[in-house]
Amino acid sequence: MNEKLKGRKSGVLVGSRQNIALIGFMGAGKSSVSRCLRDLLSMEEADTDAMVVKAEGMAIADIFAKYGEEYFRRRERDVIRDLENRQGIIISCGGGVVMREENVINLKKFSRIVLLTAAPETILERVRHSAERPILNGHMNVEYIAELMEKRRKKYEEAADLIVSTDKKNVRQVCEEVIDRLSETEL
Ligand code: S3P
Repeated sequence: MNEKLKGRKSGVLVGSRQNIALIGFMGAGKSSVSRCLRDLLSMEEADTDAMVVKAEGMAIADIFAKYGEEYFRRRERDVIRDLENRQGIIISCGGGVVMREENVINLKKFSRIVLLTAAPETILERVRHSAERPILNGHMNVEYIAELMEKRRKKYEEAADLIVSTDKKNVRQVCEEVIDRLSETEL
């Protein structure tokens, strides 16, 4: 870790909202950035998708196929509620988490919320070979991604304490920017 980052590190973690929640569209880089932040900041990591998968014993695509999206959204809400008493964790949120206001209210109570963004073309490049995202099944194209992103944009932006673009940056650069900018913002 470089000197600048070391100095910033402690500043990210003080205050009552000790967790960092990463939100953003599918393929915005939440999981990779979460892993990198976990390592740089020596924090633990919680991934809402992985928590739902573990609780249900099924892949997300199977949960959608068997029980439908609304069921998945309720499980997603439950895992976020369950995180309330955790401290010092990076929370990597599924792309649809902010569509429920209750989730945003809960996340805001105990986390600083960082929105990761990317252009629809970048998103497509990152997710085009994924069969794990039922929302994009049959819609793997820039037009659909751009349209859904636009529909969600307001909710993402309203939820965010900080917005970081990931276009043309590697994971490490995004992490350093998140850490730098979180250290500079009000807690
Ligand atoms: C979804 C995003 C996915 C997953 C589910 C629904 C969405 O998570 O929660 O497939 O509605 O945007 P990622 O953003 O981690 O791909």
